[in-house]
Amino acid sequence: GRLLSFLRAPQDLSDSGSYLYESDGALLIKDGLIVACGAYDKVSPHAPADAVTVDHRPHLIMPGFIDMHLHFPQMQVIASYAANLLEWLNTYTFPEECRFVESDHAQRIATHFYDELVRHGTTTAVAYCSVHKTSADAFFAEALRRSMRMIGGKVMMDRNAPQGLLDTPQMGYDETRQIIADWHGKARCHVAITPRFAITSTPAQMEATQALAREFPDLHIQTHLSENHDEIKFTCELYPEAIDYTDIYARYGLLGDKTLFGHCIHLSDREADAMSEAGSVAVHCPTSNLFLGSGLFPLKALARREKPVRIGVATDIGGGSSYSMLRTMDEAYKIQQLLGERLNPLESYYHITLGNARSLSLADRIGTLDVGSDADIVVLNAAATPAMALKMEVVKTLPEELFLLQTMGDDRAIVETYVAGVAAKSAI
Ligand code: GUN
Ligand code: FE
Repeated sequence: GRLLSFLRAPQDLSDSGSYLYESDGALLIKDGLIVACGAYDKVSPHAPADAVTVDHRPHLIMPGFIDMHLHFPQMQVIASYAANLLEWLNTYTFPEECRFVESDHAQRIATHFYDELVRHGTTTAVAYCSVHKTSADAFFAEALRRSMRMIGGKVMMDRNAPQGLLDTPQMGYDETRQIIADWHGKARCHVAITPRFAITSTPAQMEATQALAREFPDLHIQTHLSENHDEIKFTCELYPEAIDYTDIYARYGLLGDKTLFGHCIHLSDREADAMSEAGSVAVHCPTSNLFLGSGLFPLKALARREKPVRIGVATDIGGGSSYSMLRTMDEAYKIQQLLGERLNPLESYYHITLGNARSLSLADRIGTLDVGSDADIVVLNAAATPAMALKMEVVKTLPEELFLLQTMGDDRAIVETYVAGVAAKSAI
């Protein structure tokens, strides 16, 4: 089939040096890894006699998509009719997450969760579980069963939520440590330290989070930052000694290059500078930001600052409204349009593959088709629906095809998803 893999961030739409494209390419996969990648003529002689050949012509083969922020216990929160973030959390999200204390429920939703990721071409995701250890156990057990590279953590939250959703600083610390011991580094599981956000953590819990971050400096940290004006105001009232929202996390030592901050829509210049200096990642969740009316994320402006902020992109299910990274980038594009900016299709596909892999410091394993990396792959069909096929008749260039896939595509455009070299979509 045709191969597309990025080498670096594209400068503009004509930056053909930023990616590798093979119009007649092949991948050789062995033991879950890519062992050869390139022109079909060059790769096929290296295939052993018993190799199984799968012909994906005329479709487009890319590294599997990476979703940098979503909530595993919110599959049944998606499409909840709320006016804004705080109402949405209190009315729909917190009550729903309470159900994940039941291990049967968590296991059932985990099955659906991974099915949905694979159906949408997502091979790695960074997830929030609920406060309950049972939810993290179900999340990682399913990752292990499917051999997926997944990052996740039990949320720590000890105030401003229903009783059934609260831990304590000690419980949050102990259970996170236990989850790390049970799952981190097992197959392709990664545990992330996950204080939900400053509103739901007391200063004592933030201190416990800081202790975990010190003990486990290699782990990712994920939380929410600067999503909604009412949220920002309430947060700053809870931490009056901090100069701004970002400074709260900084005061507890949580700004670093493994920290993933969901949203970051309304950052001040000072906050963006602090993020940049720390190497922290701002994770853009376009469908969620529009759905909850949170605001327009200045992606291009943050990336081209003198002190640039590292960027990730994500669905934020269930504040987000689609599991598809194609739908996600369509909405990201429209947000930049409203801000008077252009997000070109090469950049979009860079972000959902190599860009997100780099923002996770995992580009040596995922996000590319490089030899030696994990064989996590998506196969795309830009003519998946009658309307897309009709448009494809007049599409001439690769960027045009990518833009069509982004603008009209969704799970119907995913022909196959390979996880560690195994066809996982057709196995559902
Ligand atoms: N802030 C704190 N928790 C959440 C959540 O579950 N979703 C979103 N979008 N923002 C949050
Ligand atoms: Fe979120």
